[in-house]
Amino acid sequence: MRHKAIITSALPYSNGEIHLGHVASTYLPADVTTRFLKQKGVEAYYICASDDFGTPILIQSEKEGKSPQEYVAYWNKRDLEDFSAFDIDFDFFYKTSSTENIEFAQYVFKKLQEAGHIYESEIIQFYCNNDKKFLPDRYVKGTCPYCKADDQYSDLCEQCGRVLEEIKNPKCSICGQTPVKEKSKHYFFKLKNFSVQLYNWLEKNENLQKDVKKYVQNWIKKGLLDWDISRDISWGVPIPLEEAKGKMLYGWFDNHLAYISTAIKFLNDKGINGKEFWNSADIYHFIGKDIVYHHFLFLPAMRIAMDEEYKLPDYIPTRGHLTLESKKISKSRNWYIGLKEFLEYYPADYLRFYLASINLYSQDDINFDWDEFATKINSELIGNFGNFVNRTLGFIQKTFDGKIPKPDEFDDIDNKSEKKIKTLAEDVGKLMEQNHLDRALKKILEFSAHFNQYFQHKEPWKKDSGTNTTVYISVNAVRSLAIAFYPLMPKSAQKIWSQLGLRGDVSEQSWDSISEISLQADHKIGSPSPLFAKIEESDIKKYRQKLGSQV
Ligand code: 2FM
Ligand code: ZN
Repeated sequence: MRHKAIITSALPYSNGEIHLGHVASTYLPADVTTRFLKQKGVEAYYICASDDFGTPILIQSEKEGKSPQEYVAYWNKRDLEDFSAFDIDFDFFYKTSSTENIEFAQYVFKKLQEAGHIYESEIIQFYCNNDKKFLPDRYVKGTCPYCKADDQYSDLCEQCGRVLEEIKNPKCSICGQTPVKEKSKHYFFKLKNFSVQLYNWLEKNENLQKDVKKYVQNWIKKGLLDWDISRDISWGVPIPLEEAKGKMLYGWFDNHLAYISTAIKFLNDKGINGKEFWNSADIYHFIGKDIVYHHFLFLPAMRIAMDEEYKLPDYIPTRGHLTLESKKISKSRNWYIGLKEFLEYYPADYLRFYLASINLYSQDDINFDWDEFATKINSELIGNFGNFVNRTLGFIQKTFDGKIPKPDEFDDIDNKSEKKIKTLAEDVGKLMEQNHLDRALKKILEFSAHFNQYFQHKEPWKKDSGTNTTVYISVNAVRSLAIAFYPLMPKSAQKIWSQLGLRGDVSEQSWDSISEISLQADHKIGSPSPLFAKIEESDIKKYRQKLGSQV
């Protein structure tokens, strides 16, 4: 682990609201990791931006009668509001259409071009004589040549999932007329030339997931194709060449560069040398499995082609998709839950807890299930954890007037329990470092379950000789739990911190202090109150019924 880190999450398109699928695979894991790294004393910054360019956004803004600038500004603001409500705590959230990113993308293009990594080539493109426009990607709809599904975009069939080379019955998606084919000059990045370097980089980077690495290396073995990085549209980063008037860079050329340009702006504004920081930090890019190609090939190839002026990523944590009640999330079929909507039902920490509990560090898909959500909240979050915190603090309040008693002798069980506190930071920390959020959470819950049983077994309400020690050790376990839970459930952790009567912010406590026994006799706790409220079966039923219904 280096002392500095920059963490990014896949940039959300400014084209629709954030839903549970987004946060499960990308934003929550990155947010938890950043909070954890900060607790470990790493100077870590979580950077993100809205992904503003490209044809789908331009088309949608035209449909809504807005300028693309106006359209993306709306979603940039809305996304950030939704993320904040879910306690996704970016150090900086910016946009790919910023002046800084436009200038940076143009700088990179020039640098690659001057180094001979870019060439021009004529390609055949659809052109609409009615709209007087080239029609890249989503501007053409038609029939999929493979599965014959109608009404598919020209780049990708949503029915069979295949990438399309030539769509049948092409129609202009603006006016519906049949387009003609025209020649257009495009710019290509010589991706093929980087095959060996990419292969070797994958080979030596120990931190990348093995399975992802394997199949990316297989793609390389099968042979990479050069990459068309230009588009004939009006909304994008202009290609910085006289002869390329009216041509823009493809969105996937400039969007990941915003990881860098956004981080540099943020750091420079803080008075830190951004470039130096980037090059001496651990770089994490959290992504979902659908954009592996871009992050394991295009992105590193471009950084290699720039002579590593900005270092390559150290970690690219890649996760599978979230299904909803075992079905694929689909906006058009209303099989989907917006983040904003969910947070109207339950506090952010409930969702953070549940999603972390099912959060595999792998490409396997995970599933949101309303019943499982209710069970986990009611029995694990409330029954196990909430109950332990509440009974311990409640007991101190009632029996000792809120003051921690002086411990007596420790017996074997006390010693064993104290030892659990002393090893918790390391046990959970290892899993957090390895990105296994589900296993880290499980470990914390095991710890909490142990202390619940310990408290139960010791029966301190009988006020035998061991009572003071039990209470003393238990309240220290509560403190450890608050710090350990902070990255996963920041709001609840802070509540516990205050109920413990501790000053300041739980976020400022170092991770390693989880294993200290630092609450001493006579410390006065705050006022205990229940942290969570049970989930009602009837509510769950209601929310489940909303799925798939007509809106
Ligand atoms: O697939 C997407 O949603 C893209 N907007 C992700 C972009 S990540 C990038 F910038 F590298
Ligand atoms: Zn048309």
